[in-house]
Amino acid sequence: MKNFKKTIADNLFLFKLCFKASPGYMILHIVETIRNEIVVFLEFTFGLNFVLECAEFGKPFKTAAVFLCCLLAFVVLGLWFNAFVFQKLQQKSQPKIKQEIKEMFFRKAKEIDLECYDDSEFYNNYVLSVSEVENQIGRIFTVLTNLFTGVTSIILSGAFFIGSDPVSFIFIAVSFVASLWSGKALNKLNFKIRNDKNPYERKLGYVNRVFYLNDYAKEVRLNTEISNELLKDFDETNDKVLDIDKKNAGKRFGLQLMKDYICNSFLIDVVYIIYLVYSAAVLHHISYSNVAVMRGTANRMKNRMRQFADVYPKMQEIGLYVQKMKDFLAIEPKITSTDNRPLPEKTTLIELRNVSFGYNEMDGYILNNISIKIEPYSKIAIVGYNGAGKTTLIKLIMRLYDPDEGEILLDGVNIKEYDIEEYRRKIGTVFQDFKIFAATVKENVLLDFAENGKDSDVISAMEKSGFDERLAALSDGLETNLTTEFEDNGVNLSGGEGQKLAVARVFYKDANLIILDEPSSALDPIAEYHLNRSMLTAANNKSVVFISHRLSTTRIADRIYMLEKGKIIEEGNHAELLELGGKYSQMWRLQAGQYCI
Ligand SMILES: Nc1ncnc2c1ncn2[C@@H]1O[C@H](COP(=O)(O)OP(=O)(O)O)[C@@H](O)[C@H]1O
Ligand SMILES: [Mg+2]
Repeated sequence: MKNFKKTIADNLFLFKLCFKASPGYMILHIVETIRNEIVVFLEFTFGLNFVLECAEFGKPFKTAAVFLCCLLAFVVLGLWFNAFVFQKLQQKSQPKIKQEIKEMFFRKAKEIDLECYDDSEFYNNYVLSVSEVENQIGRIFTVLTNLFTGVTSIILSGAFFIGSDPVSFIFIAVSFVASLWSGKALNKLNFKIRNDKNPYERKLGYVNRVFYLNDYAKEVRLNTEISNELLKDFDETNDKVLDIDKKNAGKRFGLQLMKDYICNSFLIDVVYIIYLVYSAAVLHHISYSNVAVMRGTANRMKNRMRQFADVYPKMQEIGLYVQKMKDFLAIEPKITSTDNRPLPEKTTLIELRNVSFGYNEMDGYILNNISIKIEPYSKIAIVGYNGAGKTTLIKLIMRLYDPDEGEILLDGVNIKEYDIEEYRRKIGTVFQDFKIFAATVKENVLLDFAENGKDSDVISAMEKSGFDERLAALSDGLETNLTTEFEDNGVNLSGGEGQKLAVARVFYKDANLIILDEPSSALDPIAEYHLNRSMLTAANNKSVVFISHRLSTTRIADRIYMLEKGKIIEEGNHAELLELGGKYSQMWRLQAGQYCI
């Protein structure tokens, strides 16, 4: 009973979402479904029985003719209404409903903490929820149609059977209950199969992408071992998917046979027909007209019952997915503002005080007792080899995660107290794995629609990041489309050009603090040095944190922090650290000779 209530509640949840997106269409869909079934009953059961009995019992022709004319008028009007609802309205409304619900998911995905993406269960739920939205909305319309067709048919045909021959009703009721039971078992099995396959299908999807996406094309060609390994993996995973199907094939076949044949075709087409002929010819309980009409009506009712039997199992299946959707929508971001305090206008001190952080308990702390001061207008370098925790540190400063211990202060106040969106707006970050979007050059800097920003501001940001030279060579200037994903004449930028464009975003934002997480790693060290130098000049009224595992720019930093295994092992300016003769000076000696700047 609890499950029943929950299934109904889950389906109502999805129904309400659809209703909110397009109430008129939802109502007309139901009205049309009921009207259609009434016409079918009037034509093929009541009407046919009436006309046949007129003939069998010798009633005047006029009685039948008047009845047929009224019926015809009703049918013609109905056809027009049907075309309006299912041709015109449906074309517009169903895509709108799907779009609105999907957008709701995207908005939620944007709002939740990055931490959720590290959790594979969350990720499975998210992928399943979004990829299933269309299917489940399609299903809920099938459910509505089957439900209302079924109920209308059961009421009308049921009344007809009870009035003419109640035993017929027992045949149909038994067939219905047996169908319901087997349909339920079949759907449960189907859901289990889908769930078992899900991790493998994600893996297959990944291999698929590797082989067709442009991003991987070079690696795949150059590293045959990788592609062989992936193909082997693909084969093995496909086998596993097949195994799941094979393991369940017998049970699935048995349930399908029970539901579609034994409970429906055999019982109604064979046993019931024998009963009808016996009742009319031997017992004379019913007329011959009744036999013909009942046979047809039972056949139709059998089909309606089959659809109706599918309603609850389908609702259960929808319910299971809706539960996943609800779980996803119920995730509340933990990283929120505690006080919505406005940010100070001017560039101020940012201080990390004894900060420790780990992504999960298993791996332990990735950052350990970190204390860093970013004085206003200072230029800070954070250096360290790959995996030292540099990017993690930036994620904490950006409040993509919160520290487990210690605190981060802006102007002496914990950053948790500031309005989070405003806080993030005041910091311009270029991540190592920045993305160039399939949009125009201008939109890629604005990260907004083109009309929401002035060309001159965008160009001035590009001058600061050094993208202006490349811009001059683009035939459509700021309107040039980037990437060839949607535009054949789109431009693909090189790694270094992309980085300069990404850096222009932070200048456009006019942030107080700029953080560059190895954005120049695709440049050669000399070009990196020049980019960083000119950027530092352009950013002389801002604080800048630049992160690198190369030391080309560190010489001009006010303060350098050397990170190793999540701990700061050395700090000071370039000269001080060289004098210290520790790891930094060792790194400098190893690298500096290669690019005598
Ligand atoms: N989302 C994550 N979940 C778990 N571990 C992570 C995650 N991101 C990074 N790490 C781990 O944290 C450590 C530091 O990574 P990162 O901050 O990216 O280093 P760096 O930027 O210095 O190269 C690495 O061992 C990395 O594997
Ligand atoms: Mg990094």
